[in-house]
Amino acid sequence: MELKSATALAHPNIAFIKYWGNRDEQLRLPQSGSISMNLASLHTETTVRFSDDLERDTVVVNSQLLVGDPLARVTGFLDRVRSLAGKQIHADVVSSSNFPIGAGIASSASAFAALALAGSAALGLSLNESELSRLARTGSGSASRSIPGGYCEWARGESDLDSFSVSILPQDGWDLSDLIVLLSHSHKKVGSTAGHSSANTSPYQPARIQDAARRLDICRKAILERDFSALAEISEEDSTLMHAVMMTQQPPLFYWEPRSLAIIKAVKEWRASGLPCFATLDAGPNVHVICPTEARDDVYANIHVLVPDSQILVSGVGGPAHLINPTTVEH
Ligand code: PMV
Repeated sequence: MELKSATALAHPNIAFIKYWGNRDEQLRLPQSGSISMNLASLHTETTVRFSDDLERDTVVVNSQLLVGDPLARVTGFLDRVRSLAGKQIHADVVSSSNFPIGAGIASSASAFAALALAGSAALGLSLNESELSRLARTGSGSASRSIPGGYCEWARGESDLDSFSVSILPQDGWDLSDLIVLLSHSHKKVGSTAGHSSANTSPYQPARIQDAARRLDICRKAILERDFSALAEISEEDSTLMHAVMMTQQPPLFYWEPRSLAIIKAVKEWRASGLPCFATLDAGPNVHVICPTEARDDVYANIHVLVPDSQILVSGVGGPAHLINPTTVEH
């Protein structure tokens, strides 16, 4: 009997310049680059155990056995790992996230980053950071940005070979916080995979993509220069652009709820009156309010007054995906 296992931990990330729309659905090659920050307080931990004794892959996520399409997505991903290693061997995957399941926070970034690292390590592949980022990308595009640490940029690239993420500023390079205001606990009705594939049905998507290099340049420069107000302006612009595409694609995706908009507007007013903060939303109604950590308590208090019943998750900047207690046991 052969038994090989590894456990990895990865953080989700919040995008400042968003990824929305693929030019290759299979390989998840994006139409444009994107930039994000890893979230230290949130993580997914995944153990992958390959064994000759297994007849099929089994996947347990937050104590629930996956079936149907979610299982097929993971087994398809494991097929990639197996083909890289040149091995035909099934796996048990056990994964859990420390953020509330169904909280409406995308867990696919941390999930596929942890799975890429644990799966490849368990099969004895020692992939470097860019190879891991490319592999994670094929599971979920945003997962490519959860492989390196800190502030990461995922390049559009020309092909599978050069579309991966690199850290542009390390975790301790700039002390920002994300206050995630949980407005909905329900699962997304339309997942991002389906959403990406209809992005081109919006007449605004070509304009958004054509202008992406400009926004990326401004965002990258703002991060490297720790220029909060420049980061705030470009991130809010980019988030609104993505949601304008979402709302005008077929079928339309309206993720903003009335309270999302109330927070978006209040955050702009707080910033105008001198409190450094900005709002950005991914594929859901929850609002990520980003601020320098020194302003965190004031921003938190303001949000709490505005939406007293909402839970707020707080996170600083996270590090790279990493192996935990790596073990490889051969019998
Ligand atoms: O990685 P996916 O397929 O879940 O797409 C993520 C898309 C957004 O979260 C909406 C934007 C982004 O860049 O993370």
